[in-house]
Amino acid sequence: MSNALVIAIDGPSGSGKSTLAKRLARHYGLQYLDTGSMYRVATVWCVDRGIDLDDQAAVAVAVRQMPLEMVTDPGAPRVLLDGEDVTARLHTAEVSTVVSKVAVNLAVRAELKARQRAIIDAERTDGRSRGRGIVAEGRDITTVVAPDADVRILLIATPGDRLARRATERHGAADEHAIEATRDEVIRRDAQDSTVSEFMHAHEGVVTLDNSGWQPDETFAAAVAIVDAAR
Ligand code: DC
Repeated sequence: MSNALVIAIDGPSGSGKSTLAKRLARHYGLQYLDTGSMYRVATVWCVDRGIDLDDQAAVAVAVRQMPLEMVTDPGAPRVLLDGEDVTARLHTAEVSTVVSKVAVNLAVRAELKARQRAIIDAERTDGRSRGRGIVAEGRDITTVVAPDADVRILLIATPGDRLARRATERHGAADEHAIEATRDEVIRRDAQDSTVSEFMHAHEGVVTLDNSGWQPDETFAAAVAIVDAAR
């Protein structure tokens, strides 16, 4: 039996998943896995190889060969591709505008799900990190990747709140221009992503946390209460 703690968090863009997941990981001394980064790095890998992202078979072959290492330290999460740190490239517009093409590829999803599962299981069993556990976040962690997680949270917020948060993150402000520049990333991508993952409604056993209008501290406190009640 393992006494490691596995926490799964899903939700749409701008719901505050990454902020919450990293903070929970630090609070409980766990590792942190951002699965969105894995779809993003798969995109970088294919783009760098000149692969047409609409060619689903070619993308799937390339992703199966991708030499990826996820560094799951919540204080400094990094993504190494063939040994090179590509973390800084993952949230550029070049990647954000096309990543959904890779994320809706079912063969890619199967490959990345297996890799995500292996990372989570390694923490659960003997622990690359003292066996304490992991917080994994994405779109299908509570449902497909880790439906057996100890705690499963679906983090949601109104589209207006999510847009304002992403705009502030990307452009330093949530003025009209920044909101318009971010709208595509948040609204169109969620619509596209939701064709392959159900992350707007909680499955049975998943706790929904609606943090519309909340500050990060309030979201964190509510999540800690959920985790502590479940342990
Ligand atoms: O959370 P993010 O914006 O970094 O996610 C990048 C893309 O990957 C986005 O299109 C959603 C998709 N994604 C997914 O389909 N499944 C996951 N578990 C995580 C992300």
